[in-house]
Amino acid sequence: MSPDDNSAGTPDVRLDVYGPADPVFVEGDGSYLVDEAGRRYLDFTSGIAVTALGHGSPEIRRAVEAALDAGLIHTSNLYRTRPAQRLAALLTRESGLDRAFFCNSGGEAVEASIKFARRWARSVGGEEKHEIVALRGSFHGRLFGSLALTDRPAYQDPFRPLMPGARFVDPQDSDALAGLAPERTAAIIAEPIQGEGGVRPLSDDTLRRLRSWTRENDVLLILDEVQCGLGRTGEIFAHQSAQVRPDLLALAKPLAGGLPMGAVLLSQEVADTIRRGDHGTTFGGGPLVAGVAHAVVSTIADPGFLSQVREKGAYLLKLLEALRDDEPNGITEIRGRGLMWGVQLAGESGPVVEQALEKGLLLVGAGPDVVRLLPPLTVTQPEMDHAVEILAESLG
Ligand SMILES: Cc1ncc(COP(=O)(O)O)c(C=O)c1O
Repeated sequence: MSPDDNSAGTPDVRLDVYGPADPVFVEGDGSYLVDEAGRRYLDFTSGIAVTALGHGSPEIRRAVEAALDAGLIHTSNLYRTRPAQRLAALLTRESGLDRAFFCNSGGEAVEASIKFARRWARSVGGEEKHEIVALRGSFHGRLFGSLALTDRPAYQDPFRPLMPGARFVDPQDSDALAGLAPERTAAIIAEPIQGEGGVRPLSDDTLRRLRSWTRENDVLLILDEVQCGLGRTGEIFAHQSAQVRPDLLALAKPLAGGLPMGAVLLSQEVADTIRRGDHGTTFGGGPLVAGVAHAVVSTIADPGFLSQVREKGAYLLKLLEALRDDEPNGITEIRGRGLMWGVQLAGESGPVVEQALEKGLLLVGAGPDVVRLLPPLTVTQPEMDHAVEILAESLG
């Protein structure tokens, strides 16, 4: 395959695992990205649920400048820095969990969660208690542990054998949990809203059922809020609507507003079983990313900000429902919460995403027949009006 040289004479020799890369973006401005030709695109992907405060956010700029002024970007985890400590305090206070571990991505947050769960399980049940149970439709990442828990044979098959001890249950089947053996099960992992799997929210009842079963059977509950967490649903954490407390909570995407960062929040009971040297990372929680993450999380956690996300979400839902009802456009269902919506189509999502791109709207699919809308949490009503107009024109 020859290198694609669409970018002003510079051949694109990046490994081709993502598909075509048009357009080439050079600037960001709130809900917009600007390409080399100066064309503005309304960004309803937020870099796949990452740039929650939009592009060029003043909060992020101030936090980056503070780190640069201090000359403190990286120290490694051999040493302590105040930004990491402050961020850990903020995240544990917001979540009601007790400890924080910082890493660099969602996949790494899931990987760390698997290790922490296995460490705890071995201490209470020995080596046999090592299985991690995921839900049908899940996506937890593409690293070896997280890949084993991702219900996508097409992603898994080329890389078998995978991590042993991964199992799947159907979240809609209320008897499925009864078939699990608690003496072999370390944890159940679940996304409160499955993102890549088609924007499929778990009902509050299902989440509560998972929590009761895990508690009664001495099994941990890991919630993966890498995509749906940190304000996306209009609450700081998506599971809060079900009033459950997980044992481990994996976070990433919006955490540092676009800088790579992940985190696992843990209960004290799990943390007590982790020994020094059990896990680690060179970069995780460095002072630059931690300072930015503190600015992002404290902005989002403000009750006024969250209530605006809920209001905007309700507005966007109304627009999408009106579009669905305006037959015939091939929309069969609208799913999601807050500012995370999946538009289920009767046909394929790829052509709709392509059409929208041509008309200046960035969207992302979630599986073959779902279009996902993930605007920045700072999106405005006119921007939502415009996005849904373009979506309507793209469905035809
Ligand atoms: C729920 C969930 N978990 C984990 C991941 C993996 O995150 P990353 O791509 O940062 O490794 C993703 C990515 O889409 C995700 O949506």
